[in-house]
Formats: sequence, C-alpha cells, structure tokens
Amino acid sequence: MKHKEILVFGASGQIGRNLIRKLSKNNYKIIALTRNIHRTGYILKTQANPGYLELVEINNFNSDKIESLMKRCSICINLIGILFEKKKGHFNQIHTDLPNLISHLANKFNIEKLIHLSALGIEEASDSLYAKSKLEGEKKIVKNFSNSIILRPSIVYSIDDNFTTRFMKLLGMFPIMPIYYNGKTKFSPIHVSDIVNIICKMVENKNKSLILECVGPEVLSFRDIIKILLNSINKKRLLLPLPMPIANISAKILQLFPQPLLTEDQLKLLKYDNIKTGNYKNNIDLKLGTKKKFKDEIEKYSYNWRAGGQFSNINDVVN
Ligand SMILES: NC(=O)c1ccc[n+]([C@@H]2O[C@H](COP(=O)([O-])OP(=O)(O)OC[C@H]3O[C@@H](n4cnc5c(N)ncnc54)[C@H](OP(=O)(O)O)[C@@H]3O)[C@@H](O)[C@H]2O)c1
Repeated sequence: MKHKEILVFGASGQIGRNLIRKLSKNNYKIIALTRNIHRTGYILKTQANPGYLELVEINNFNSDKIESLMKRCSICINLIGILFEKKKGHFNQIHTDLPNLISHLANKFNIEKLIHLSALGIEEASDSLYAKSKLEGEKKIVKNFSNSIILRPSIVYSIDDNFTTRFMKLLGMFPIMPIYYNGKTKFSPIHVSDIVNIICKMVENKNKSLILECVGPEVLSFRDIIKILLNSINKKRLLLPLPMPIANISAKILQLFPQPLLTEDQLKLLKYDNIKTGNYKNNIDLKLGTKKKFKDEIEKYSYNWRAGGQFSNINDVVN
C-alpha cells in the first residue's frame, strides 16, 4: 500500500510531537515543518522510525515553499498557535492569515483534507484578540476549502504541556496562588493522547467537513484544577481570589515578561467557560469520548514536582 504523506504545521509542539508518534506507527509518512530545525530537530527526530519523518525548516510562511510541500501531501494538519502576541497583529498573522493561506493552497492542490486545530469558547470570548483571530481563521478556512475539519479542544494537558507543568512549578514556589473570577471558570481538560486519537480518527475516516468540539470526560472549575494539582504535589497553598481591578493591574505587569504568566488578553479569555456548548458536534457524539480523568493522569507525572522531585523547588525538604 502506498503510504499517504501528511504535512504537519507546528509539529514540534505538545500535540504535534505526540501526533507524529502515533501517525508514523500507523504507517503514515510525515513532513514536519518547524521554524528552527536546530532547536526542535533533536526532539522531533526521535518521534518516528527512520524513513517516516522528513523535517523541513520554514521561517517565513511564503506560499512558494508551502506550495511545493502541499503538492506532495494528501492531508495537511495545522497545529500552529500562540497564546500571547510578541507584537501587535501577531495573533492575526498566526491564527487568521496563515490558516487562510494554508486552506487556499489546500484547495488549489486539491488535497484530500485539511485538519485545523482551533479552540473552544472562541465565539463567546468576543473581547479577546486570541479568540477573535482564531474565529476569523476558521471562517477563512471554511470559505476557502470545503474538505476542512476544524477541531476545537478545551485545555490539552500532559507532561509535555505548558499548563499543568507550569502551574505545578509555581505552586511549588509560592505560598499564595492568585485566583481569577473566583476560580469559577469551567474547563473540560482533555489528555493529549485523547486529542491525538481524535485527530488520527479524522485522518482515517470519511469525514471531510466538520467543526468538532473536543472535551475530556469531566467539567472542572479553575479552582478544582488548582486543588487537584496541589494535592498531587502534596502542597497546601492559600488560594487568593483577586478583585478585577487588581487582576487587571497584575496582567498589565505580568505581560511585560518575555514568557508572560498572564496577559490582559488571557485574563479576558479566562472569564468564559471552556466546555462543550451544544451548538456543534463534539467528540462524544462521534463516539470518540475520552476516559482519561485529569486527577489520574496528573498523578502519573506530578511526582517530578513533589519535594525531592526532578523539578521541585530546590529548597523543598522531603518529609
Ligand atoms: N494546548 C492546549 O491546551 C490547546 C487548547 C486549545 C487549542 N489548542 C490549539 O492546538 C494547536 C496546537 O497546540 P499545542 O499545545 O501543540 O501548541 P504548542 O505546544 O504551543 O505548539 C505550537 C507550535 O506552533 C509553532 N509556532 C509557535 N509560534 C509560532 C510562530 N510565531 N510562527 C510559526 N509557528 C509558530 C511552533 O512550532 P516550531 O517552533 O516548531 O516552529 C509550536 O511547536 C494550536 O493551534 C493551539 O492554539 C491548544
């Protein structure tokens, strides 16, 4: 059987790395795009058997280079996304203009399908630039190319994430954890292996046009999530609800850091629940429900952040 070639944008991220492993095991050949082969190549190369993965460096997303790659592939998967802007207009470039270009070329070269990772809650969060740019990107894709599958996940977590691992680090370091909106915002965290399974099903099945909300098996508030992380690393911390004026000031200050913990845009986004809406199909409707519970999965890697663990605070004493 001729292997299908799959072109993956944003391959070095949390979802990309896990996806490459699974796709290559299933005999797909992957062309993985990354901005810096020297920085990400050593991680990516180990994700697939020899012959199944080709790495291509791409810095500025000009259509000539993408065209030449698109000609060779049957399926294209776009995993590129950012959580904060380094300069004004960055969200639009990454979440709107790039999907516009990719979907335009997918149509031009008549590929089998385009799978695009968007995000949950973007229609409600109309005051967030992140959400607006993601939604605009979806609209461009739907307009340009009918064989497009748009996946909207809630928070995706794993040991490779920037979410649970970052919070466990912070919870280990500081005695107080600020809580925004009283910690009431709801999420349906989905484990990376589950979102990867959904993407693989989309690669294999006949669906060609779909918007799918992707959620884990539980609905947890932000406060629940922090409590689970705290229990898991054996820490007790004061959870301090921040009044909005102070929350706004803290976001203004924190966003000045190169890798900000919180930006003003993220603070706006955090106001909206990140759970299935019922307005679109979701993975459970397609019998792609997930069983991995947040607490159980966190337990598998949180020991690294407990006292004495590899990533624990250096001053932590083992009891
Ligand atoms: N993780 C979540 O909780 C979550 C939730 C909802 C939606 N999503 C969406 O799912 C997709 C994949 O998520 P992920 O967690 O795997 O993301 P990730 O770990 O942050 O990886 C995203 C990839 O995008 C590429 N990238 C980042 N900034 C870029 C830029 N300025 N220009 C070009 N490429 C850039 C990077 O690839 P290189 O460095 O190799 O170029 C990076 O590996 C994203 O679209 C994200 O918005 C994620």
